[in-house]
Amino acid sequence: MATLHCLPDRQDLPIESTETILEVLQSHDVPVQHVCNGNGECSTCRIVVESGLEKCTPRSRKEEQLAKKLGFPPNIRLSCQTGTTGDVTIRRLVIDQEDIAIADSQFDTGIGEYREQTVLVMTLRGGSDFDLSRFPYDALYVLNRFYRMIDRAVTRYQGRLSSALGNKIVVLFDRLPDGRSSALRTGLAILHDLQKLDALLENLGYAPLQLTMGIHHGPLLRVPVGSDCALLGDALGLANRIDSFAAEQAINLLISEAVYQPLASETVVARRVEMSLPKYGALPLYEITALTTPDAEPEPPGLPQRMQNLLQRFRLWPAKRR
Ligand code: FES
Repeated sequence: MATLHCLPDRQDLPIESTETILEVLQSHDVPVQHVCNGNGECSTCRIVVESGLEKCTPRSRKEEQLAKKLGFPPNIRLSCQTGTTGDVTIRRLVIDQEDIAIADSQFDTGIGEYREQTVLVMTLRGGSDFDLSRFPYDALYVLNRFYRMIDRAVTRYQGRLSSALGNKIVVLFDRLPDGRSSALRTGLAILHDLQKLDALLENLGYAPLQLTMGIHHGPLLRVPVGSDCALLGDALGLANRIDSFAAEQAINLLISEAVYQPLASETVVARRVEMSLPKYGALPLYEITALTTPDAEPEPPGLPQRMQNLLQRFRLWPAKRR
């Protein structure tokens, strides 16, 4: 007979090949949650299999569906749907009412994730010369133009604006298997468009905007919080440090070694610099100014439909052909 090592309870329980893990836990009074009574619908009986996953029975269809919906990795199993043919070590994951509430909310948000991602952190610098109390329209005008420009580039390369707080913007490239190339292209497109925007602002009598960017690729933890999510991990922290270092070095766009290596043949490197951090030592960084094969310029944004309709009413815009 196989043994079920159960954590955090530190109990070793005998298990038959015909029993589910939930049945064994219940028969030994281990306090395991099971809101749907073993029907494979609530996920509160979830466990992590710490060793012996290969001895566990394959997922049932119900478990398969639920694991897909919640984003469970292979070692998170439903104890009500899982049996074993050998020794396994498991850890119960839903301990109390608070955990049940979290498990319930995850039907909307998923459980979060930990994986390699590309992060672009940018900081708008030099845009703080506005006297907001006297003429806030100036600031609103400039910032509206700026954020629309950022949004266009991010959308074009399938990034996702993760946060915009104060003068700092974080963009994630988490919809792609590998977002390094897209993140770099986004950064270069933004720098290109910023030159045009700065020329326009100067013509209108505004101070030009300055922007720095840092890009890094590494592990990132995403945890759902309400309708949003919290981000933690090296990828974010390092991208942020690289952005700050770019400002110190008067560089617009700096990328880490992890981003540079797979893209080396596609990039024009203006400078290689080193940033020293106590945790990582000396990190090589690369100032990128262009791609060896630049992307074609996108079509300029057309007039929004509402404006076209208005102009058509006054015969100032060609009517649609029928
Ligand atoms: S008890 Fe509900 S899914 Fe297992």
